[in-house]
Amino acid sequence: MKTVITFGTFDVFHVGHVKLLKRAAALGDTLIVGVSTDQLNFSKKGRFPVYSEQDRMQIINSLRFVNFCFPEESLEKKAEYITYYGADVLVMGDDWKGKFDQFNALCEVVYLPRTPSVSTTELIEIIKSEV
Ligand code: CTP
Repeated sequence: MKTVITFGTFDVFHVGHVKLLKRAAALGDTLIVGVSTDQLNFSKKGRFPVYSEQDRMQIINSLRFVNFCFPEESLEKKAEYITYYGADVLVMGDDWKGKFDQFNALCEVVYLPRTPSVSTTELIEIIKSEV
C-alpha cells in the first residue's frame, strides 16, 4: 500500500486543484491532503482565504479520490506530517520545484506540472474586476 501526501490552500476551488489531486491519487493507493489553515495563510500572504478552512476541508474531503485531509498549521511541520501519516510520496505542484527536495530523505518527492491558465489569485482578480 502506497500513501501519497500533498499540501495546499485550495481556496476558491478550481479545476487546477482537481487535476493536481487526481494525478496525486494516481501515484498511490491512499491520498492524504494537508489543507493550510486560515492563520497559516494569513502569515504567508497577509490575507485570509475567501473560503474558511472548514469549508476548504469539507470540499477536499468530499472528493472521491481523496481519502482524508487534515489542517496544515505550520510550513515547518512537513517532515512531522510525512512521518506521522507514513507517506511514501510527497506531491507538490511544480511551482515548488526543488523547494522540497530535502524530504527525499523521508519519502519520494514528486513535482507535478501545474494546469495552465488558472489560479485562485487570478480568479479573485477576475471576480473583483467584474463587480
Ligand atoms: N495547482 C495546479 N495547477 C493550477 C493551480 C494550482 O496544479 N493551475 C496546484 C498547486 O501547484 C498546488 C495545489 O494545486 O500543488 C494547491 O494550490 P494552491 O496554491 O492552493 O492554488 P493556486 O490556484 O495556485 O492559488 P494561488 O493563486 O493563491 O497561489
